[in-house]
Amino acid sequence: MERGKKRVVDSQLESVHLVRMNHLNSAGRLFGGQLMQWIDETAAMAAKRHAHRPIITASFNNLQFLRGAYPGDTVVLKAKIVYAGHTSMDVKVETYAETVTGEQFLINCAYATEVAVGEDGKPTIVPELIIETEEEQYEWDRSVLRRELRKKHG
Ligand SMILES: CC(C)(COP(=O)(O)OP(=O)(O)OC[C@H]1O[C@@H](n2cnc3c(N)ncnc32)[C@H](O)[C@@H]1OP(=O)(O)O)[C@@H](O)C(=O)NCCC(=O)NCCS
Repeated sequence: MERGKKRVVDSQLESVHLVRMNHLNSAGRLFGGQLMQWIDETAAMAAKRHAHRPIITASFNNLQFLRGAYPGDTVVLKAKIVYAGHTSMDVKVETYAETVTGEQFLINCAYATEVAVGEDGKPTIVPELIIETEEEQYEWDRSVLRRELRKKHG
């Protein structure tokens, strides 16, 4: 079967959520586990758009909570594929809290590895990623480095 090639922009996407009272932790901020669910879903949707296959999450790397988000904030998650291997893809997800005045603050940055699975539930080949910009090349190189570190240290 033809493997195909896709650009980063072909699958990049945003998802948007409103922080409600039921999303808060005891400190009155957005609960980290809730944000992780949104990050996981957003990363998987971008990977599904790249691979056009069902997706499972293999791992998260370098998930950093940088600031809090509060009731009434709009949470904007921006996902893009930064690396495509044989059956897996690395997805960068940047999360912003948008205030009522429209200001956006970066509150989280995470990298997820998503694996495409076939009808047999086993990993299946994904399209190659076309690198078009210096920034995309930078992210690709960082993914290669993360993969080497994972193979070395588990
Ligand atoms: C992810 C999973 C499918 C990998 O299966 P596997 O038999 O190890 O398959 P492979 O060794 O062929 O790896 C498949 C790809 O995943 C990558 N991969 C496997 N484990 C990984 C990990 N822990 N972190 C990052 N990438 C991983 C491999 O590098 C490979 O990538 P490539 O094909 O692009 O080179 C398997 O471990 C699994 O099903 N895990 C549970 C996933 C799940 O249920 N997630 C939902 C959240 S609970």
